[in-house]
Amino acid sequence: MSHHPRHRWLRWPSEPDRPRLAFGADYNPEQWPREVWRDDVRAMRTAGVNIVSLAIFSWARIQPRAGVWDFDWLDEVMELLHGHDIAVDLATATASPPPWLTAAHPEILPVDRDGHTRWPGARQHWRPTSPVFREHALALVRALAERYGAHPAMAAWHINNELGCHNAYDYSDDAARAFRLWLRQRYGTVDGLNDAWATTFWSQRFSDWEQVLPPRLAAPGSFPNPTQQLDFKRFSSDALREHLRAERDLLRALTPDLPVTTNFLLMGDGNTVNYPEWAAELDFVANDHYRLPGPQGRDELSFSANLIGNIAGGLPWYLMEHSTSAVNWQPVNKAKLPGELARDSLTHVAHGADAVCFFQWRQSAGGAEKYHSAMIPHAGEDSAVFRSVTELGATLRDLAAVAGTPREPARAAILFDWDSWWAAEQDSHPSDRLRYRQEALDWYTAFLELGLRADVVPAGGAWERYELVVAPVLYVMPAALSQRLHAYVGAGGHLVTTYFSGIVDEHEHVWLGGYPGALRDLLGIRIEEFAPLHDDETAELDDGSTGTLWTDRIDVVDPAVEVLARYKTGEMAGRAAITRRAPGPGSASYVSTRLGPAGLIPLLAGLAARAGVTSELPAALRGQVELAVRGPHRFLINRTDREVDVSAVAGPGSALAPRAVLVVPQARS
Ligand code: GAL
Repeated sequence: MSHHPRHRWLRWPSEPDRPRLAFGADYNPEQWPREVWRDDVRAMRTAGVNIVSLAIFSWARIQPRAGVWDFDWLDEVMELLHGHDIAVDLATATASPPPWLTAAHPEILPVDRDGHTRWPGARQHWRPTSPVFREHALALVRALAERYGAHPAMAAWHINNELGCHNAYDYSDDAARAFRLWLRQRYGTVDGLNDAWATTFWSQRFSDWEQVLPPRLAAPGSFPNPTQQLDFKRFSSDALREHLRAERDLLRALTPDLPVTTNFLLMGDGNTVNYPEWAAELDFVANDHYRLPGPQGRDELSFSANLIGNIAGGLPWYLMEHSTSAVNWQPVNKAKLPGELARDSLTHVAHGADAVCFFQWRQSAGGAEKYHSAMIPHAGEDSAVFRSVTELGATLRDLAAVAGTPREPARAAILFDWDSWWAAEQDSHPSDRLRYRQEALDWYTAFLELGLRADVVPAGGAWERYELVVAPVLYVMPAALSQRLHAYVGAGGHLVTTYFSGIVDEHEHVWLGGYPGALRDLLGIRIEEFAPLHDDETAELDDGSTGTLWTDRIDVVDPAVEVLARYKTGEMAGRAAITRRAPGPGSASYVSTRLGPAGLIPLLAGLAARAGVTSELPAALRGQVELAVRGPHRFLINRTDREVDVSAVAGPGSALAPRAVLVVPQARS
């Protein structure tokens, strides 16, 4: 699932065998007059740029009208870049259909769940399942492949852009048709669908496929069928993948020697695309990431980079976009602090990125993103941003030996699963407050605070090799996954799971007999009723920690269960809150409330110690510094805004400036 049947990295136009990290940006020359292009390539050389992503939003410029093509400007840009030894990741330009196309074919426009058209005027206003859009998009892909497939500047193809960023959920008639087809493939018969969707409930039973719809806006105050909702999320991710495959297959047929990628957007709460299921479609994985504000913003960056590194199977991946400084899409957009540009970039490299690229090369003067930072800001080259960019270019040149080295797996892992992410946050549940990714991120922060490395790995991936596996809110538990977890603990693995895990199967049908059905025996506990908390309620535990969001009324049913902490107050007083069952050398622990990083740190310290997982950092650096390992390189990332003395690992007198990153050779053991 998350491993690659094929991995093909960039085809460098010059010195293909020289190890190097890619460095560059989205390049949008069509926003500027020709004179600026010459200045661009000169400044790119100054900054150390060796690759750009070109033509991402150029459809209207390349094809100004139906049947009319204008490649002259792009020919010139390609020549100019090649002449300056800058490689090209050429986009298929299909991300934003031009006005002539949507005017002639309004039937390609997406429809929201209320039945309203999503009009053109921004971008990505196309239905993933529209045959008309597909036909026009593929004609453009073909034209670009035929014209530039053999161009010496070509390093890779870049399909569309952030597929699903704005158009993942389309409720149109095209979508309804494709959804039915998808469901037929999944369930075979209408009765198979009826069983999976539990349609005996509320008289929803179908007698014909034609009656099946996407979960369009239903009666106010009511809830659409939950399995329909979950399947629609699965379908929508698959529908976008069908589009990806269509462009990719054409490119592979026309230009078999060029690698193909598309930029994922794994960051924050965005979960419309099941990326672990997409990775194997590409020659290499690429991601876009923008650091979010807030106390865990830096950890979230590391978490996302870590997960992408594992989705890429530990092999090098491409950071297609991040920002040099402020973005334009937050309510308030702050510039980055000194050191943050390099730290953010190098954190991605630490987790396996062999390319560090930005949105975008030159900050736009007009358009919706004119206040988004770029490598050359409005202020020009005489600016702190451009100086930091140039410095980063030099740093990456010095780190050329890192290129191609694999991520070194940690001994602990956090399981991450799209089905559980989608399903755990659906409506009509015990609490609508639950946030799947936040719980996983809190555990990640706890690992970082303890100086422990942990890999964030897809639940469908190969995680049996880890000695300690944390599976927060693993709500959807198909029988096969439950069997894997049982076998893992049986073989000596240490599993930690939390509230609202092991509750339902893949159709979101409850495992009966008491919660957490699929894991009840493994954990040696039984829960008859959930006990979620209101926002103003907390639960005090006798280990000094405080729970929020959720509690469970646990009955310990196996005498081999050790109670690690109990509830202290209220009607739960005296009941088990955290348990651990060790049937043999392995163990299965359960955390029934949301502890947040502060409560998880001491708990995880104990659980990791008992699993034999220890920090690779000297005590003084734990929590101060994040450690990531690639081949023989150790990355030390200063998590703080203070200088940190790292002499213990990097030699006498070594210090990490606030927010700085140091790469040191692996200590020999
Ligand atoms: C990305 C997108 C870019 C640009 C950027 C701004 O989602 O791919 O085109 O819009 O965000 O942060």
